Amino acid sequence: MIYREFAKTGFKSSVIGMGTYYDPWWMFIASALRFRRGARTKLEALKAGLEHGINLIDTAEAYQSEPIVAEAIRHYKRDEVFVATKVSYPWNFSSEGVVRACERSLKRLQTSYIDLYQIHYPPVFGRTKEVMKGMEKLLLDGKIRAIGVSNFSLSQMKEAESALSRAEISSNQVDYSLMHREPEKDLLPFCEANKKAVLAYFPLAHGRLAWLKGPVVNEMKARTGAASVAQIALNWLVSRSPSTFAIPRASRPQRVLQNSQAMDFELSPVDMKALENLVG
Ligand SMILES: NC(=O)c1ccc[n+]([C@@H]2O[C@H](COP(=O)([O-])OP(=O)(O)OC[C@H]3O[C@@H](n4cnc5c(N)ncnc54)[C@H](OP(=O)(O)O)[C@@H]3O)[C@@H](O)[C@H]2O)c1
Repeated sequence: MIYREFAKTGFKSSVIGMGTYYDPWWMFIASALRFRRGARTKLEALKAGLEHGINLIDTAEAYQSEPIVAEAIRHYKRDEVFVATKVSYPWNFSSEGVVRACERSLKRLQTSYIDLYQIHYPPVFGRTKEVMKGMEKLLLDGKIRAIGVSNFSLSQMKEAESALSRAEISSNQVDYSLMHREPEKDLLPFCEANKKAVLAYFPLAHGRLAWLKGPVVNEMKARTGAASVAQIALNWLVSRSPSTFAIPRASRPQRVLQNSQAMDFELSPVDMKALENLVG
């Protein structure tokens, strides 16, 4: 695993983290058909990641996975794990609403502070200033260690940051993978220049990148010793920029284990280009 400071937090985070959005809407259909994976397997998956060097976990009020995260990190010293969660929208989008939502997340996570508290979606109806006031209060009160946003464009991120008087925005969590490279246009260069982090969600394009086939990836796997194409796709993503951290979701321990080893080999500049040409 490779570790890098997460923005200016001082925390050395694994470049591969763990996403915990286990139950999107289509899982309710799977659940009805009895295909939903149990809480025990998800917990084992998180524990496998922690045991194998992953120290960044992303959750959210909306994912209902905060209690599983609490259980997974229970036996670790609190400062060994970087816990990121998010405030849901739009019902919490007032300065008091954000503070109350954070208190609830702290209880579900069974912790006294959150490493990165993120606004899940840009506030609507001109509420940005008010929401950022709540975030800044949480930071100054020591309930959160860093402020993040998610699904913000660069201009929305700058506007949100200008509403802070004594703090800055540490990260923006966005859809970013070999199959979706939009953040490279302006967000990623801005974050690189300002030592902010880009948290890449859907880093495997919902798993599609794990199933890439063909002579180019077969040859790369054989030469680098990569155990899977998922590892190659994750390696590409975090090797492209020192500001990027990937948060694949994997609800089976074997897959988390594999993802934790995604940095055990190096991709050459030629490999990187070949992957971009293959998918682009
Ligand atoms: N901020 C936002 O608005 C937002 C939105 C969506 C997601 N997110 C965050 O991003 C995370 C990732 O998103 P996602 O789960 O939809 O997409 P993803 O990570 O791109 O893909 C997840 C899929 O890939 C599979 N997978 C993971 N590792 C694998 C491996 N080594 N080999 C083969 N398949 C593998 C997973 O399998 P399993 O079936 O075993 O899990 C799952 O089906 C979420 O959990 C959440 O934390 C944030």
